Amino acid sequence: MASHPAGGPDHLSDPGPASGEAGGPDRGARPAAETWTAGSWRRLPAAQQPAWPDEESLKRAGSTLATLPPLVIASETRQLTASLAAVARGEAFLLQAGDCAESFREFGADQIRDKLKVMLQMAVTLTYAAGVPVVKVGRIAGQFAKPRTSAFDRMGDIELEAFRGHMVNDEAFDPQARRPDPTRLVSAYHQAAATLNLLRAFTKGGFADLSHVHGWNQQFVASSAEGRRYERIASEIDRALRFMAACGIDLQAEEGLHQTDFWTSHEALILHYEEALTRQDSLTGDWVDTSGHLLWVGERTRQLGGAHVEFLSGVINPVAVKLGPSATPDEVGELCNRLDPDRTPGRLTLITRMGAGNVSGTLPGLIESAREGGHPVVWACDPMHGNTFTSEGGHKTRRFGDIVAELREWFGIHRSMGSWPGGVHVELTGDDVTECLGGAEEIGEADLSQRYTTTCDPRLNARQSLDLAFDVAELLRS
Ligand code: PEP
Ligand code: CO
Repeated sequence: MASHPAGGPDHLSDPGPASGEAGGPDRGARPAAETWTAGSWRRLPAAQQPAWPDEESLKRAGSTLATLPPLVIASETRQLTASLAAVARGEAFLLQAGDCAESFREFGADQIRDKLKVMLQMAVTLTYAAGVPVVKVGRIAGQFAKPRTSAFDRMGDIELEAFRGHMVNDEAFDPQARRPDPTRLVSAYHQAAATLNLLRAFTKGGFADLSHVHGWNQQFVASSAEGRRYERIASEIDRALRFMAACGIDLQAEEGLHQTDFWTSHEALILHYEEALTRQDSLTGDWVDTSGHLLWVGERTRQLGGAHVEFLSGVINPVAVKLGPSATPDEVGELCNRLDPDRTPGRLTLITRMGAGNVSGTLPGLIESAREGGHPVVWACDPMHGNTFTSEGGHKTRRFGDIVAELREWFGIHRSMGSWPGGVHVELTGDDVTECLGGAEEIGEADLSQRYTTTCDPRLNARQSLDLAFDVAELLRS
């Protein structure tokens, strides 16, 4: 097996078959001496990595993962890039949604089905409103690791390592539970495989049938006073379906009405996991991170000289970057050059998460910067992460009104600059949780403790998610 370009003290795990020096394509955008490999991130500072206490166990997990089958394949990532290219051109809309952090415990067919169901319902509404296809990407089948503001959690006098997601440790406030355990990398892979298997079955096997999805939306509209606001859109969709049938289009025979493409995504945070699942496409020599279709770097790991940007720069998957209020136009220009040196439509999605009230001061310069560099990026709005606060009762939460306010500002800026508001990125669940405030059911601070089950950030529940889809539909049409 070829050796790593730079072992160094943090060269912990077996590189596996993915990471050899041989064949790493020269990507052109970097100095020749710094050829990219699946392990070249190890030469650079890697933020937000756990202090893995057991190097041997980490090595074993990396070797095991490197022998396991890919979760996604190269041609799928190319298809998604092509779909996102349509978003970049203003000919499609992106819906990226799912848990903040997937859980090893809250895992089962019902959860996966209900999350998919709510996303399909949102997508139908958005498709109709935007008049263009909706590219559906889950935060799912790999979203198991979390960046943390503080490396430690404190309770009274006791300080423990922070909970970093079930791929790393457990949230129980107990020293043993918080110890990073590399066998969790392998468990995450297996849960991702099982999740993806069911998603593929559901989306190709009739569950995504347009008439079912529309029926669910009609139930939503009919079952609440708030839902009735959306009666108009729902009945227009109904009329469109009847119109097609009346024109002689056989809705039963039309494949596109019964199945859909659904893609997976997660934050590429734990680089040992991503490296071990990175494989070379035997047909083209391209390197693909087979852990998911789309991968992103977060607000805390997007350093230009950092390991995460280095890693994503060399894989052919479509990639995304989260941009918070401190992001500067220069940084965005550099990130575009690093991650999209060839100016490939669909390659790079920029997800802004500024917080309500912070969009008009920050977004225009970033849009200008990508434009000046000639990068055909997708712009998406994450209206969740800039609007988080802790309630008086100690729950991390978000106000539905702030989420909609950020979206409204974001659409307004894009409209005023002649830029396509390409998509939304939200944290949601199909379960009936009480984690975000407001929405049709007017969840209040006193209600938060009723069903607060997230392992990390507060998610929209199914009703709030549909509410949001109808709000975004109105913004798309205005
Ligand atoms: C997230 O998407 O869950 C997240 C941590 O986001 P950000 O990097 O934007 O803070
Ligand atoms: Co989150």
